[in-house]
Formats: sequence, structure tokens, C-alpha cells
Amino acid sequence: MCGIVGYAGGRNAQPILLDCLKRLEYRGYDSAGIAVVGDPIQKGLQLFKSKGEIAVLESSMPEMTGTVGIAHTRWATQGRPTTENAHPLSDCTNRLAVVHNGIISNFMEVKEHLLATGHKFVSETDTEVFAHLVEAEMNGDLVAAVRKALEKVEGTYAFVVVSAGHDEIVAARRESPLVIGLGDGENFVASDVTALLKYTSRFLHVQDGEVVSLTRDEVRIFDSEGTAVERRPEKITWSLEDAEKGGYPHFMLKEIYEQPEAIHDSLLGRMESAEPEPFFQGNSFSSVKIVACGTSYHAGLVGKYIIEELAKVPTTVQISSEYRYSPVSRESPLVVLITQSGETADTLGAAREARKRGNKTVGIANVVGSAITREVDHVIYTRAGPEIGVAATKTFVTQVVALYLLAMELGVQNRSLTAQARRSMTSFLRSLPRYVQDVLNKASEIEAIAEKYARSDDMFFIGRSINYPIALEGALKTKEISYIHGEGFPAGELKHGPLALLSKDSPVVAIAVRDHTYEKMLGNISEVSARGSPVIAIGFEGDTDLPKFADDVLSIRQLPPIFTPVPVIVALQLWAYHLARIRGCPIDKPRNIAKTVTVE
Ligand code: M6R
Repeated sequence: MCGIVGYAGGRNAQPILLDCLKRLEYRGYDSAGIAVVGDPIQKGLQLFKSKGEIAVLESSMPEMTGTVGIAHTRWATQGRPTTENAHPLSDCTNRLAVVHNGIISNFMEVKEHLLATGHKFVSETDTEVFAHLVEAEMNGDLVAAVRKALEKVEGTYAFVVVSAGHDEIVAARRESPLVIGLGDGENFVASDVTALLKYTSRFLHVQDGEVVSLTRDEVRIFDSEGTAVERRPEKITWSLEDAEKGGYPHFMLKEIYEQPEAIHDSLLGRMESAEPEPFFQGNSFSSVKIVACGTSYHAGLVGKYIIEELAKVPTTVQISSEYRYSPVSRESPLVVLITQSGETADTLGAAREARKRGNKTVGIANVVGSAITREVDHVIYTRAGPEIGVAATKTFVTQVVALYLLAMELGVQNRSLTAQARRSMTSFLRSLPRYVQDVLNKASEIEAIAEKYARSDDMFFIGRSINYPIALEGALKTKEISYIHGEGFPAGELKHGPLALLSKDSPVVAIAVRDHTYEKMLGNISEVSARGSPVIAIGFEGDTDLPKFADDVLSIRQLPPIFTPVPVIVALQLWAYHLARIRGCPIDKPRNIAKTVTVE
């Protein structure tokens, strides 16, 4: 996720671009940059970029003059967050500038080809290849050059391109958001309407496959065949604050709804190759230790089941702050450190300890270039984009996706996963966003059930096997944002103590999907009902038995047991969200907790 803006008009572009860019900082903030076509336009390009937030760019950039330009605020996915990797990226001639949001999945292949034909690269980004492709196709017509370059790239993108000597901006979209803002004697392009609301309320939404040309007087849209498209502008009446949240009342809800896209991005370009990751090649690990805190720890617990099932490697999971007190094991495990922020002090401490113990380490992180990435031997990035709500949602789901990928890698390496099994895992993973979308489509059902139980003081969550950690995560989400005392248990543990807490005022959420634990879960639900507690069961659609045992049922589409944690947690995120909303809690900033915990 990154923020993009472009301006073509009669005013000086630089202050307008900067102003619009600041509205997009929530989409990424590790580096930023701006390119303005010289005035007169024959003068060439003025380009400046810097590492860090937009404020750093603003305080260090020179004055630019020109009425056409583009700008970008970055959330790194390919290449570290450095000044060189910041956008705009240019070509060999420095007469072209490109900003990009998305991931070019075949960029290595394209780059090799360009290198062989004499192109020189200055960044580690996938985006730079696009600047070179456009340059190679440039013959005076920027739209034609962009269209030809697009034929060579795969993946997702919103590209915006300017070229010295042209008073035109060319933009293209595939799966990454892009809107056009229509002004009087000026036109804009941006990642979303938030950036442009101060300047216009008339918008055109760019569709997948379309290429757009903008000048101060004209906006032309072409479909993927190059045919001109007519589109009526829409009038948007959001406030600036509403717009930043994409029209959602809270960042948490927006981030819950971004999960299909986040899963898709996390998988992009990672499952096509039959070749193992070089880090794993020749490395067969006899055990895995996962270390993390909070929600990331719960992802680790799900990972244990996934790794043990797919790779048949014994896996233990430990809370980061406890890791250093654990005995040094005789065999050397692969230590996997999970942290969305990459800055959690306890997890960083554990990473250093693991290296001191001589273990190989893998980090699973969402923030490119964050501290953890310097403390581990290999990094798997989740590509969830920035998460603003304190409650981890899309970062959790993409951590679980990263763990499927890691388990597959380990399984292939030690031959416990056949090529056929890997293929079917891969093809199922690709369909996972649809299962998540199905849950999102049931939000109003979840809300209606939450309404019945929102006044409870205590709530319990139970599950077995791979859904036991999801019970823990459901409880954590509930307690941190709704302030209801929520506790998760392995369902089989209730009778060893927690049953004493149950009463008619303490609802129990039971995850009862039809897997090998189903019959036992029904038994546990009966135990709970016998104590008078209402039961809210999460099961598969079409399960006619579950309603006989539970007071309320939330149904998810049937899917293989190993994948159930993903849609189930999405249901529980919505559950926690609605409980908190009904209770009037400050959802995005719950009391006493911070998004990044940098103290031990
Ligand atoms: O950045 P990390 O993943 O290392 O953060 C660890 C926990 O602080 C975090 O997962 C926390 O539990 C969640 N924000 C709760 O929703």
C-alpha cells in the first residue's frame, strides 16, 4: 500500500502535490518523493525524494516550478525504505518519472532482460523496471509507451507517469486503487479521494485494465483494448476524516475489510516457482521454535499446527519475553520471530538471543526495513499495508498466510509435502480471499448477534486443535477493544477449572467447524449449556446439528480444516468490533495500549 498523487493544471504543482500527499500518509510513511515537469516544459524533470515521513521531504526539498507533477508516499514491499528506493523512480535518461502502488510479480525476469539490453538500475524496487520499460517504448506518445510497457508486467498496480517535455500525466490501474479528480482548468489523480477533497468533489473511478491521460483541460480514459471510455463523474460529499477511513467509521473496520486484498498481495508472486527459497535450500530443520507476542503469538500457535501438518517438523511456540529463560536446546531449531511492526522490544530481544544461541532465524514482519529485519537471517514480509487501528487484524491474517508459505517451503525441503499436495495447497490459498469476503458479507448477521450479548461483563471463547489459538485471538480482540473480560480456552480444558466461572451471564463463543474435533466440540458445548451459559457457535454453512446445541450460530462456508482459522478469525474480529461499537468504546485507540511496544 502506498499513496499516489498527480496534478496537471495552471497552478504551481509542488505545494498542491505536497498538500494532497499529506492526506495519504496513512497509506505509507517510510519514504516520499516528488517529480515536477519543468516550466517551460522543455526544461526537463525536477525530482526529489527522501527517506522518512513526508515532513522530512517537505523540510529538505528544493523549490520546484512547473504545473504538472506527481508525488508518492511509500510503504515498502520490494526493496528497503531508502532514499534510492523511494518513488518517483526514473529511467536511464532521467526524463521520465513513475510512481507505483502494488507489486510487479515478474519484475526479476523483466529486470534481467532489461539488464541484458544495457539498462542500468539504481534501486532495488520492482517499480524501476516499469520506468525502463516505458523509456524503451517511448516514441513521443506517452500513452502508447505506457500501454506497451503494461503488456510486459504482471501483478498489481496503480502507475502514474510523467515525462519531461509533456504536459500530460498517464495513469494505469490493475487491482490497486486510483481515482481522477476533476477541477476547473486542472485535473488530479490519486490513490483515493481523501487526497483531493480539498480541491474537488467530482471524481471518476478508474477501473481495472484502464489507462488514463490527464492534462489541465482534458481527461481521456481508455479500456484495455485502447478504446476510449465515457464515464460520468460522481459527486463525493465525505468529510476529510471520513475519507481517510475510506468511508468506514473506524480504521479497524476498514482494515478488517481490506483482508481479502491483503491476503492476495501477500501471496502474489510467491507460489509460482517450484524452486525453493535459497535460504531454505539444503537446510533441513529438525525442529521449529516460533517466538512472538500478543496477536503475533496467536498466529505462531496457528503456525505450529500448520507446520506440523505440512512439514512434519515438531514446532514449539513461545512468548518473546519468556524465550530468554528457556533452556538452550541440543538440536538447533529454526527460530521464527513474528512481529507485524518489526519493532517490538521483546521480540527483538528474542531474535538477538536466538542468534547468540547459534540458531538460524526467520522474521515474519509487515514493515519493510523495520528493526527485526536486521536481526534475522531471512525475512518473509506480510504485505498487509499499514495498519492504523491498534487491534491487529489484517496483519494477523497475513501472518497466518506467511506461515502457510513457510510450512510449504519446509515441507518441500524435507520431502514431507509432495508436489501434488503443494499444488493443491497453493490453489486453495489463492481462493482464500473469497472465503474471507463471504464472512464480510455476513457482517450484519454478526452485528445482530453481538447486539444480544454486548452488555455482558465476561465472555469465553473455546476451540480445539488449530482453532484453539483462534479462540485465544477472539478473546484478545474482544477484551482489548470492547473491554469485556474475554478469555480463550482449549475446549477440553473447561472441565479442569474454568467451568466454575460459567453462568447465564457469561456467553461462550464455541468454534465448532466440522473437522476431527467436531464431535468433541459438541460435547463441550453441551457442558456449557448445562451450566446455563448461552452459546454462540461458529460452524459450517449447512450444518443442521449445530443449531440444536447452540443459542446462536454464525456460519462460514465449508473449507478444509487447515484453512478454517482465517475465515473464523475474520468473523471474530467483526464480533469484537461490533461489541465495542455498541458499547461506545474508542475502537482504534483502546485505553492503556499502544500499537508498537518498544519497551521490554
Ligand atoms: O508488532 P507486533 O506484532 O510484534 O506486536 C505484538 C503485540 O503487541 C500485538 O500483536 C498486539 O497484541 C496486538 N496489537 C493486539 O491486537
